[in-house]
Amino acid sequence: MGSYHLGQTLIHEDTLQERVQAIARQIDQDYSDKEPVFIIGILKGAFIFLADLSRKLTVRHSVDFMALSSYGDSMSPSGAVRIIMDLREPIDGRHVLVVEDIVDSGNTLDYLLNILAGRNPASLRTCVLVNKDREHLKVPINYQGFSIPDVWVVGYGLDYAERYRTLPYIAELERRSP
Ligand code: IMP
Ligand code: MG
Repeated sequence: MGSYHLGQTLIHEDTLQERVQAIARQIDQDYSDKEPVFIIGILKGAFIFLADLSRKLTVRHSVDFMALSSYGDSMSPSGAVRIIMDLREPIDGRHVLVVEDIVDSGNTLDYLLNILAGRNPASLRTCVLVNKDREHLKVPINYQGFSIPDVWVVGYGLDYAERYRTLPYIAELERRSP
């Protein structure tokens, strides 16, 4: 196992905040006739993005969370996705917006959207801060913050083995050569 260190900053704090503000304005407009919005944050990664987004929204909304199994300490996907913590309320007939930190393969979001669609929401959309811009992404992203190359990134909620989540910017994680 090599060790890791913080690499170059990919998205600066100001850029993040401006983009979150712009996404909030867009959501305000799109949901002006669909209040209240039922926002689902995906733990743990989305909690910082969602904290900022939620406070920038003027549209009436409530926030709930779900937790899904993650990659754990490894950077490679285990494949299986499962629900670790579910919503407290039913979502049928409600306007649901899923807020996720990052989409890589899209497996996590795809799995989640299938489950949520089966619960008959009035509408179901996704808001993703960072998209790794895979060629054949199978999930729809309605609101996207940034598209980045296929590197491991940390900060602004994103972690590597629970580290770096609280950085106010997003940086690349680099492997230190032995
Ligand atoms: P996917 O199922 O391959 O789309 O992976 C999505 C999940 O993997 C995200 O919700 C993150 O928890 C995690 N993940 C993927 N890429 C990164 C990264 O670069 N940094 C931190 N977490 C990531
Ligand atoms: Mg996540």
